Amino acid sequence: MLSLRRKIESGIEQGIARDSIFREYVENREDYEVTEQEADYAFQSMLGGGARSPLNAIMTLCYLMMEHPQWQQKLQAEVDIVVGADRLPTFEDIPNLPIVRAVVKEEVRYRTIVAELGIPHRLDEDDVYEGYFFAKGTVFPDQGHRSILMDKTAHPARWLDPGYPTYREPLTVHPDLQNFTPFGYGRCACPGYDFVERTLVIMVARLASGFNFEKPIDPATKEPAVIEIRYKPTPNPRRLPFACCIVSKGEKRAEIIQKEANNLKFHSRHMLLRRELTQSEDFHQNRDE
Ligand code: HEM
Repeated sequence: MLSLRRKIESGIEQGIARDSIFREYVENREDYEVTEQEADYAFQSMLGGGARSPLNAIMTLCYLMMEHPQWQQKLQAEVDIVVGADRLPTFEDIPNLPIVRAVVKEEVRYRTIVAELGIPHRLDEDDVYEGYFFAKGTVFPDQGHRSILMDKTAHPARWLDPGYPTYREPLTVHPDLQNFTPFGYGRCACPGYDFVERTLVIMVARLASGFNFEKPIDPATKEPAVIEIRYKPTPNPRRLPFACCIVSKGEKRAEIIQKEANNLKFHSRHMLLRRELTQSEDFHQNRDE
């Protein structure tokens, strides 16, 4: 964390640091009532907690799209009908994209670490729950292994079809990731679920708008490769890479994505320039005069 902090601080000094939450903090230090150590822990936990799990979810998306082409078609058809072919999906489209949200919910559910690993919790004081006494130190094993998280069949319909007990209305809001068990339970539950919900939904909508996911051809058999999800056996299991062909849906879509990327670059350069200008002495002198 210290090296990242130094990198950002020196980037700010040289005027080349990109916009980030940490840059905002460093530049407006006096607005925050935290110690340096608390700030370091907060940013470290955002990186530690926020980097691997969303990557796992996006890897699961690639896997599910390759394994279940019928869901890929449904996802793409929804985005194409709601958004059209002339622009990328935006946050305003999200209430109209229940299939996108169902796929996101299923990709977060499918082989989540809570089910694969289990995260037990221990009471740090005596407690009474529904009339039952539990002494300080009692360990509660994670219940994920008994729940819906253990279903190894990917099935986004469970969030969309009124025939399933997991179905909720209205479809402008549900399926969503609120109070969802892959994020854990109780006071230690993941604090990043709101952030990651918005991030994953917009990413999946945009990927569905621009790309097809295809299995690579195995050179030995000349057939589509067999893909497996495997993990590096660490305390917080990391998914091992697998092959996936992510192919543009055509020139027009590629142009739209390129245009959006250029706008983003232009926007960051513009923000940087504006910040440099507003911080320069000339600017303040001229304004005061
Ligand atoms: C698909 C994405 C994610 C999943 C499935 C996920 C899942 C989890 C789980 C299962 C826990 C442990 C909960 C427990 O102990 O019961 C956790 C903790 C945590 N997560 Fe996430 N997470 C995700 C994304 C994020 C993001 C984006 C951030 C931050 C920006 C984040 C930050 C954290 C932090 C700081 C903790 C520790 C909380 C504590 O111990 O009090 N997570 N997450």
